[in-house]
Amino acid sequence: MNSPAPWRRSEERGPANQRPRIVLLMRNSDSQTPDSAAFKDAGLDVHHEVTDIATLAEDSPFFAMADALVIEVAPNHPAEIEAFDRLVHLAADRLPIVAAVQGLTVADTRTLLKAGAVDVLPLPFTVDELQQAVEPVRRAARPVARGAGPARQGRIVSVIGALGGVGATALATQVGAMWAANARVCLLDMDVQFGNTALYLDVRPALTLGNLIEDEARLDSELLQSVAIRHASGLDIIASPTDMMPLDIISTDFAERLLRVATQAYDVVIVDLPRAWTEWSVRVLERSDSVCLVTNLSVPGIHQARRQLEILEANHLMDKLRIIANRAEYKMFGRIDLSETEAVLGRRIDHTIANDFQTVSAALDQGRTILDIRGKSGRVVKDVGALVDALSTVIATEGATRT
Ligand SMILES: Nc1ncnc2c1ncn2[C@@H]1O[C@H](COP(=O)(O)OP(=O)(O)OP(=O)(O)O)[C@@H](O)[C@H]1O
Ligand SMILES: [Mg+2]
Repeated sequence: MNSPAPWRRSEERGPANQRPRIVLLMRNSDSQTPDSAAFKDAGLDVHHEVTDIATLAEDSPFFAMADALVIEVAPNHPAEIEAFDRLVHLAADRLPIVAAVQGLTVADTRTLLKAGAVDVLPLPFTVDELQQAVEPVRRAARPVARGAGPARQGRIVSVIGALGGVGATALATQVGAMWAANARVCLLDMDVQFGNTALYLDVRPALTLGNLIEDEARLDSELLQSVAIRHASGLDIIASPTDMMPLDIISTDFAERLLRVATQAYDVVIVDLPRAWTEWSVRVLERSDSVCLVTNLSVPGIHQARRQLEILEANHLMDKLRIIANRAEYKMFGRIDLSETEAVLGRRIDHTIANDFQTVSAALDQGRTILDIRGKSGRVVKDVGALVDALSTVIATEGATRT
């Protein structure tokens, strides 16, 4: 498919056409990509070309006319890697080059990032994946963090549920999505057996935490970001492994390394933990700046929260603990009586989140935010917003004393 109209140089384009122009250079016409209407709806001006990258020269019109190139590469053909490497050098700082690969593996990702790709996409990729890959071009700022840049000093917020199904993951995803409006936020789904953050945000990851575990020796912030998938809110997600894995697949060393590289790349790292206690999950909690224990106000919820508090206390984690009572029923005038519950727990409840099944379940079913579903005035939206504000403040204060 060739471009219907002659192209003009990017700088010649008038203000009416500010959509970034992306050229997909595919190896053959069978290479599957979404149709151009889908790209257009997403605000991207995408042109699809079939070419042999070995034949592209410096004066190729693609270099002058595109804002970003997406190049299909077969990494198992050394000649293609060589050609790709040459193109990245030809493009130099002029425009970003994204690689696209059939049957993408972590090893391919690594090879192509090393060769200078700004990102690597699986083929066929979705419109969302392409948008995420070209995000730096869209914003004409914020380049993808590379090893050479100053290391970020991200903060870690861990989320655990007192009892199954209390809404720990729902809150982790919604807090992350809301926080992403103001910071660079990553949600790490470390619930390696039952993790469903990707499902709740309706993102389909090509690579997951499982790939990072497999490639532990090479885990750095670059690899982490190449595995992360971006939600429409701006939140990056490291999804849990596609296949259920034993809890001990994660070592304490891996957990430490994962957090270290994640905090180099993001301002805020939210960790959704499994409910079972393991050596590595305790390490994650120790490394966290804030630990959120999510419960509900049912008898079993409070009973289990009490037991969890004992373990948290035994592990000296009480200082940074926040207890969140989810699905709270507000009485008249927005009041809620927590005195009995707090007496049983022997500790105050820091936050309450309104029970609003309609809004929360619609958000999780559609992969959208509760703000999007219910608007700013929704009680549950205000409660999650207040939680984000409180966590930001705690973390900022904590950061100030820590650094
Ligand atoms: N504030 C809320 N109001 C109404 N329903 C909610 C609320 N928060 C969560 N839920 C519902 O609770 C259900 C369970 O949520 P979720 O999967 O997040 O729980 P979890 O604690 O992570 O469970 P698991 O122990 O399986 O990890 C979901 O169906 C969700 O819609
Ligand atoms: Mg969960």
